[in-house]
Order: sequence, then structure tokens, then C-alpha cells
Amino acid sequence: MRNELTKNDVIKMLDEDGRLVEKALHGYLAANDIHLQVLLDAERYSIFAGGKRIRPSLVLEFCRLFGGEVKAALPFACAVEMIHTYSLIHDDLPCMDDDELRRGRPTCHRQFGEANALLAGDALLTYAFEITAQNKHVTDLCATEAVVALAKAAGSLGMVGGQVIDLIGETKPLDFTTLLRLHRLKTGAMIKVSALLGCMAAGLGKGDMKSLAATDYAEKIGLVFQIIDDILDVTGDEKMLGKACGNDAAHNKTTFMTYFSPEDARKYAGELTDRAVASIHKYPGSERLCALAYFLLDREY
Ligand code: IPE
Ligand code: IPE
Ligand code: MG
Ligand code: MG
Ligand code: MG
Repeated sequence: MRNELTKNDVIKMLDEDGRLVEKALHGYLAANDIHLQVLLDAERYSIFAGGKRIRPSLVLEFCRLFGGEVKAALPFACAVEMIHTYSLIHDDLPCMDDDELRRGRPTCHRQFGEANALLAGDALLTYAFEITAQNKHVTDLCATEAVVALAKAAGSLGMVGGQVIDLIGETKPLDFTTLLRLHRLKTGAMIKVSALLGCMAAGLGKGDMKSLAATDYAEKIGLVFQIIDDILDVTGDEKMLGKACGNDAAHNKTTFMTYFSPEDARKYAGELTDRAVASIHKYPGSERLCALAYFLLDREY
């Protein structure tokens, strides 16, 4: 169910969305303070290191698809990128994955020390909620619901919970059902809420048929995203990825590579991607998001 949009079209879309998000993030993260400089620099160091900006792009694209205005989606888009960046900073800490390279740079803790990296993550996380609650381009009810949705996606039954299962998976093998849960939580939850926040910025409730279609799509591409991440940890190129490969095996983690060959895992991910696209393709204008799903399936970085 691939459409006529090419990889370059998707790259252009991510680039355009990324630039909007980057500009807004610069506005939010412009502060300087003589006593807090190390913290503010650490936050900026990690967030402006040039991630793919997939999650904020999902916020903007779903908002556009369902007739919303970009200005209503931008604060939500920045918030998800801040939470995502915090999750990467903490994920790289010695007590977790102990990584030295992220987004093509030394990890935050290598550059600023562990305590400052921990605190920069904390600061980005809390700032995300401030920004979400203060989104003036949506109703107060929408802003409140967005805060709740983000908190759930990031918290114990979302990304943080997934990270805990991920660490348990280093000490004992996880069965396949638990592995699926791990991936849905640690990576899927933030991707799903990104799509939902885009719908909410367009004025839709979370129970609206369109929001349900969007979250169904995002749930599936979220799982695919982590499957491909697991594959790339084995087959990927460190230079392209901007992060080290082979760390999952080094930590004895249970990943998709525990259960599948890279080829079979890609096949599994391909079927999921077809189903993700089927959830939204009836909506006029969804071509970009459909092409994005295949782009993320084919990605090598
Ligand atoms: C990396 O996410 C962590 C996972 C959830 C697999 P991304 O691959 O989206 O990282 P950036 O934002 O592009 O750096
Ligand atoms: C991390 O998963 C997901 C997060 C919640 C940050 P990974 O540990 O596999 O991500 P990478 O491979 O370090 O980017
Ligand atoms: Mg990890
Ligand atoms: Mg990691
Ligand atoms: Mg990984």
C-alpha cells in the first residue's frame, strides 16, 4: 500500500516540520542565568543535537490532516520532543544503557557529568508539562487533557514502565508477549501520544473516530519503530545512526533480535506497517503520514 510519495518527499516533510519545531524550541530554551548556565547548556546541547524529530512531526501532521492550525500543535510538538530528549539523556546514563554517543555527539553525561545530565533530563520533562498546560491556542480543557495524556504516556504505565521492563530483560529472558509490552511502553507510548496530541490540537476528543484511527496507526508504527531500532543495533552503521551499535547484545538485553533474524523482524514490521497505513489511508491528505510509516520501516538511521 505504498503511495507515490518518495523517500525524498518524506525527508522534505520532516525537514520542514523539524525547522518549525526547532524555531519554537529555541524560543522556549533561550534563557541564560549565571548560576544555572551548566543546566541550561546541557538541555540545549541534547535537544539541539539534531534528532529526527519524528514525534513532533507526528503532532504537526495529524493536526494538519484533521484541519487544525500549526500554532495550536507547536507547543505540544515541543513538549513531546522535550520528553523524548529527556528519556534519551537518562537512557544513556551509566546506570541504564551506559552509552557514550548520542545524536552524533558525546552523551549528555559525558559532556556535563552525570548529575547535570540527570537534572537536565528532569528539567526538560517538567518544562514539557508547563508548555503543554500553557498552550493558549487550545481550550483550557484541551490543555488539561493533553497534560494528562502526556503524563500517562511518559509515566509508570508508559515510557518509564517500558524502561523498567527493558532493564529486567537484561537479567532474565523476557517471553515474547512481555517483549511486545516492553516495546509498546518504552517507545510506542510516546509515539502514540504524539498522534493523539495532534488530533487534540485540531479540536478532536480522544474518543473521536479520527483520533482512534490516528492512535491505531501510531500504536503500530511505534512498535515498528522499536523493532527497527533493535535491528539497527545489530546491522546498523554507527556513523549514520549517531549512536553506538551492539550495545543491546553487550547488555544481554531481550530484543526483537532474541526472537527473529533481521530479515524476519523486518517482515513482521512490514506487516504491521501495512496495518498502520490501513488505519488512516481513507482520510484525504493522509498520503504524507502513510509515506512516513514506510519511511520509518525502511530507515537506516
Ligand atoms: C531513539 O529514538 C530511541 C528510541 C525510542 C528507539 P529516535 O530514533 O527517534 O532518536 P532521535 O530523536 O532521532 O535522536
Ligand atoms: C530507548 O530504547 C527508548 C527510550 C525510552 C529512550 P533504546 O535504549 O533501545 O534506545 P537507543 O537505542 O539507546 O536509542
Ligand atoms: Mg535503553
Ligand atoms: Mg539505549
Ligand atoms: Mg536501541
